Amino acid sequence: MIPSNVRNKIVQDISIVEVVSEYLPLTRKGNSYFGICPFHDDKNPSMSVSDSVKMFNCFSCNTKGNVITFVSKYENISIDQATIKLAERIGMKINTNISKEAIKQERLENIMNEACKFYSFYLRNSEEGVAALKYLHDRGISDEIIEKFRIGLSPNLSDGLYQFLIKKGFSELDLIELGLVKQEDNNRIHDIFRLRVMFPLASSNGKIVGFSGRIYTPSNQAKYINSNENVIFHKGEVLYNMHNAALPARQMDKIYLFEGFMDVIAAYRADIKNGVATMGTALTKDHINSILSITKNIVLCFDGDEAGIKAMRRSAKMLSSYNIIPEAVVLPNNQDPDEYIKEYGAKQLEAYLISKAKPVYYWLYQLAYNKVIKNDIASVEEFKQSVFNFLSEINQETIRDYYLNQMASDLGIDINSLKKDFNNVKHQYQSNQNEIVNNVVLEPTKEVVKLSEIKITKAIRRAYQIIIKHSIYDHKKLNKYLAYTQEFYPGKDLMTEFSIIQNLELEVLANPKLINTSKFAANNINALSEEPSFKEYIDLIINDDLIDISNDDDFEQSLDTIKKFIKKIKTRDIKNRVIRGDEKAIKDFTASKKDENNI
Ligand code: UTP
Ligand code: MN
Repeated sequence: MIPSNVRNKIVQDISIVEVVSEYLPLTRKGNSYFGICPFHDDKNPSMSVSDSVKMFNCFSCNTKGNVITFVSKYENISIDQATIKLAERIGMKINTNISKEAIKQERLENIMNEACKFYSFYLRNSEEGVAALKYLHDRGISDEIIEKFRIGLSPNLSDGLYQFLIKKGFSELDLIELGLVKQEDNNRIHDIFRLRVMFPLASSNGKIVGFSGRIYTPSNQAKYINSNENVIFHKGEVLYNMHNAALPARQMDKIYLFEGFMDVIAAYRADIKNGVATMGTALTKDHINSILSITKNIVLCFDGDEAGIKAMRRSAKMLSSYNIIPEAVVLPNNQDPDEYIKEYGAKQLEAYLISKAKPVYYWLYQLAYNKVIKNDIASVEEFKQSVFNFLSEINQETIRDYYLNQMASDLGIDINSLKKDFNNVKHQYQSNQNEIVNNVVLEPTKEVVKLSEIKITKAIRRAYQIIIKHSIYDHKKLNKYLAYTQEFYPGKDLMTEFSIIQNLELEVLANPKLINTSKFAANNINALSEEPSFKEYIDLIINDDLIDISNDDDFEQSLDTIKKFIKKIKTRDIKNRVIRGDEKAIKDFTASKKDENNI
């Protein structure tokens, strides 16, 4: 897929009215243009097109989107192909490699999706499926979960999937490249996954890029086998369930990071939907960047065994170079969430995961302290070593002091001698650490730096939610908000909120007769809920009783918050351009300074 920043730029820079009018006649009404909708059998012009919101919307058949989706739908070409076509208009070069790659990527994703359908079908409609379903049900995985996570079954056949996909017209080479099939020495092709419960692995935009298959019959093979790396599947980038978890994680401003996908599923059963897992690999820089584009409140939920503690320490160290101290939860008796839910049930798992999240160092300290035998010098030394070990990785002096003090008081020893001990060994750990760290690039990428520069605080997100709920019921409030935000694009962090407001504006434009009746509100809620990516978010906002739409002061305050936020971004943007010597920006900057003086 062509990167979203390229697509966003095209949507921003191209006049959708100009493009659509090349396909069909448009007439102007107020701020919008209307035309006969090409996507249904339209008699009267039902499609509005607007440059201010950069979207089209048919209020009769409800087809809507931006300039790229319009061209893609009208010409029946892929989003990437439409992007390439539109890029040419504004002289934007998308190099042919990208476009070739994009086309190939789409083809491969399509194959993966068909394979997923095949596995799902096979789970439901085969002899082997009966036992596999029983295995899943026995593990507490309901039909609803099976559907949600698109769990399937690979058949006990040497080339069941291969035959299915070849009949659909896909190429053998693609199937081999995807790691779905393999060519034997005798030239026969056979399926890689046989008689395994199949978990599809999706990229953050929800496209299936790989599979992990779990053995469920007695066997001495590996418990899980995964698709091999290929152009669409990079293990170090994929977080299991990210495409589902992103929205709830954004809303709750928190994400849980687990070790395995059975843990993600157990958490989901306990109503914790903001959970993801690495694919049995250590946390990578790409994982971190993808998490940080959603939230910086990370809760690690790893096993309490040696390996789990090591992974926790390593993750904490990586995150500390982004100035983030994650929280952690460690379940009792070395259980993973899946084992815990089996023993204690969903309610208890939920309660535990929520109430026991504490800064990761608390857990590292506690786990070490639990093991110490106080009158055994060797044991005390071991405890000291393991605490020193993680303390030497902490950048913050205050946190280090806190735990040194804690340790002095827990062991009943003098803090000064403890500090001396620590300082003596500190450099030893650090030089060890550097060796490990050199293998992993710890520099935060530019993108993350930018993101933290302009902080999307809870207050800002809340202000957007308040504005959205008020606007759904009152078009005047929507207009009041829009008056301040024309031509403003808040970036991908607030993309959902921004798109909801864009859609609301289109609804208002498309339904001028309904303005400010209860029908108007119901219409808005319906229209917004139709978009799957908005549905949960809209429900959440509508049902949030703390947002009282009769309280105009709340709305005004939220509007103020957003105004300040926009001003801050715009000033920063102008400053950046001034630094680059952009002449128009220098004028704007002088003007904005004058404005400030006048306030
Ligand atoms: P675990 O051994 O903790 O598996 O490995 P699990 O998630 O608890 O699975 P169940 O409950 O036994 O079914 C954690 C993760 O490591 C990867 C998988 O991604 C798994 O979820 N793994 C594990 C493999 O890739 N291959 C293996 O053979 C084992
Ligand atoms: Mn498990």
